[in-house]
Amino acid sequence: MKYIMLLLSLFCANANSQITDTGDSTKTEINFPGAELIMNSYKLEDFGNFTDNWKMVTVRFREDTKEMRVTYANPLAYEYLVSDKKKTDYPDGAVFAKIGIKTINDPMFTSSIVPAGAKRFQFMVHDQKKFANTGGWGYVLFNSEGKTFPGEVQKNSEACFACHTAVESKGYVFSELASFNTKLEPVAESKKQNNVSALKFVNFKAKELPVSIKKYLDKKIVIVDLYEGEMSKRYFQGTLDEILPTLIERSVKNAKVTIFLSDDKKEFSMVESSINKKKCTNSDEPLRVVVHQTMGVPEKKNSSKLIFKVIQKESCRAVLI
Ligand code: HEC
Repeated sequence: MKYIMLLLSLFCANANSQITDTGDSTKTEINFPGAELIMNSYKLEDFGNFTDNWKMVTVRFREDTKEMRVTYANPLAYEYLVSDKKKTDYPDGAVFAKIGIKTINDPMFTSSIVPAGAKRFQFMVHDQKKFANTGGWGYVLFNSEGKTFPGEVQKNSEACFACHTAVESKGYVFSELASFNTKLEPVAESKKQNNVSALKFVNFKAKELPVSIKKYLDKKIVIVDLYEGEMSKRYFQGTLDEILPTLIERSVKNAKVTIFLSDDKKEFSMVESSINKKKCTNSDEPLRVVVHQTMGVPEKKNSSKLIFKVIQKESCRAVLI
């Protein structure tokens, strides 16, 4: 079955929330107090002018947040990626970089979407010994100003790793060479396997969910679709956000409330979808998608202690065929 999800979905943060929705590409990231310039012993500037000096691997686009992503590989990583070798054993010194880029409609030609500045820089540095606990890759994440996001380095790195284990068979690397930047055939392993879509979900009794979630659930709901796996133990704020498109897709497909809940029951992303012509006035987009999601924000203005608030986003989408 094929779903056509319209790009023009309107996300709006709950009026009583002060939180900047990081999924909204028009707003800037929050600079957390206590943010560092180093993660896993790397600074942003250690990667030099990588956008000029490394090879671009591929481009991806996240349709719900309109975020563009460009992935680069340093010469060692690139050489290995395009080689015939089985992709499970990247050499030490191989590095991948990914830039999350805000986009806007070109004011001169609105049907065209153009980049509007970096939101986030992510790196994976291969050092089998140093990063043995996270599959041999050191994970590094900075905001557009080269500062770290909240959370402990170890916990955040494990959260990166937990999701990247979905592609363990590809040496923990998702990106494949796009055919436009090379005469070589792209490595097309994902065509043979299911990656993130292979995430495991189970039927779960709604009454056994924590109160913090239940209060947003319709009392009539008996069973929900709940993520079960490593990522609920090892997660960070980005996990809750990155998993949203999967939750939305499942919720639409199975007509169930779909939930990612952290193991400590503190944080969650929950998606419900329903045909609601009243709320969605455009008849081409009759499907209403409601997302409840916890977002970590500093407790006080200058505090590095995080508290978790729930935000709500709604969108209308097309449900076709
Ligand atoms: C919930 C899943 C998820 C989490 C958590 C996650 N990633 Fe990724 N990562 C992806 C996906 C999917 C891609 C492929 C590109 C895309 O779709 O954006 C990717 C791509 C990358 C790439 C480019 C190389 C590759 O594997 O394609 C880097 C570098 C990267 N991520 C770093 C990180 C870092 C650093 C963290 C933690 C701070 C992290 N990732 C957390 C899913 C995740």
